[in-house]
Amino acid sequence: MIREHYAFPTVRLQEQPRYRETQGKTVLVFGRNQFAAHFRWFLATVLLTTGVMVWYFTLATATRTLPTGGTPIGLILGVIGAAIIGFEMLIWPRKRFYHVRTLPFFRTKYWLKAHIWLGLFCVPVAVLHSGFRTGGSLSTGLMIVFGIVIASGIWGLFLQAYIPRFLLERVPDEVPVQETERIIELHALEFEHRLAIDQGKLGGAEVPGIEKVVDYYESTIHPYLIGETHPVVLARTASTDDHFQSLRARIPSPSHPRLHDLQTLCHLRRQFDMQRRLHWWLHSWVWVHLPLSVALVGLLIAHIYVALRYI
Ligand code: HEM
Repeated sequence: MIREHYAFPTVRLQEQPRYRETQGKTVLVFGRNQFAAHFRWFLATVLLTTGVMVWYFTLATATRTLPTGGTPIGLILGVIGAAIIGFEMLIWPRKRFYHVRTLPFFRTKYWLKAHIWLGLFCVPVAVLHSGFRTGGSLSTGLMIVFGIVIASGIWGLFLQAYIPRFLLERVPDEVPVQETERIIELHALEFEHRLAIDQGKLGGAEVPGIEKVVDYYESTIHPYLIGETHPVVLARTASTDDHFQSLRARIPSPSHPRLHDLQTLCHLRRQFDMQRRLHWWLHSWVWVHLPLSVALVGLLIAHIYVALRYI
C-alpha cells in the first residue's frame, strides 16, 4: 500500500554510529576535545620555533647581519626545511597504499598531526633560511609556491573540521553523494504513481484540484528535481514554505497531501544540492595543495642544485 506522505526510505548517514560519535564535535585541530589531542604537537612546535629563532638572532646580533642560506646556520636550516618537505610528501603514498596505513606509526591520527605541525614549523625554518630575502626568481618562485601550499593546507584543515559538522546540521537527509540523483528519481517515480492514483488512472474518482498539481509538477517541480532549472523561490526553506502556503490557498484541499509531498521533495532536492556543494568544497582544496606540493619539490630540487654550484 502506498503511504499517504513520504517517509524517505533512505539510510540516513546521521543515524550511523560513526556520525553520531562526531555530533557536536569538530574534527582535527579545532574544537575543545581536538585541541587537547594536538596540545603536545603545538607545544613542541612553539618550543622548536623559539629555539631556532633564539639561535638565529643570537648569531645575527653577533655578526650584525641576517644569515642567509649560504651561511652554516642557513645551510642547516635549509637541510631541516628540505627534510620536512620530504616528510610532508610521504603523506601522499601513505594515503594511496592501504596496507601502509594500518601499520602502527602510520596511523592517520599520528601521521596527520605530524604533517600539520611539522608543515607549520617549516614556515619559520624557511623564512630564517632565506635570511628575510627573496633572492633570485627561482627562490622567489619557491617561496611563493611554498606559501600557497601552506595556506591551502590550513584552508583544507579548516574545511575538514567544519564541513562535516555543517553537513550534519544542514543536510539531515544526507546520503552518499553519488546516490543523490538516483534517490531523487525514485521519489519522483513514487510521487508520479501517487498522482496517477489521484487522477483516477488506476480506477476510482479523480481528486478535485489534482490537475493543477500535475501541471505545476510538470512545468516547475520536475525540471527542478532533475536539475534542469533552479527557481529562485525554491532556493531557501522559508521561501519554499511561503510559496507552498500560497499554492495551498489556490488549490482545493483534497489535493493538499500531494502539495505536501512536493514540498518535501523540494526540501530534499535543496539539501542534496547543498550536500554536493559542500562535498566540492571539502575536496577541491586538494587540487591546489597536491599539485603545488609536487611543484614545490621540483622547485626545491632545482634550488638545491643551483645553490650547491655556488658553495
Ligand atoms: C611544505 C609543506 C607541505 C607539503 C609539501 C604538503 C603536502 C601534502 C600532500 C602531498 C598531501 C596529500 C594530498 C592527497 O593526496 O590527498 C597533503 C595532504 C594534506 N595536507 Fe599537506 N603539505 C604541507 C603542509 C601542510 C600544512 C601546513 C597543513 C595544515 C596546517 C597541511 C594540511 C594537509 C591536510 C589536512 C591534508 C589532507 C590529509 C588527509 O585528508 O588525509 N599540509 N599535504
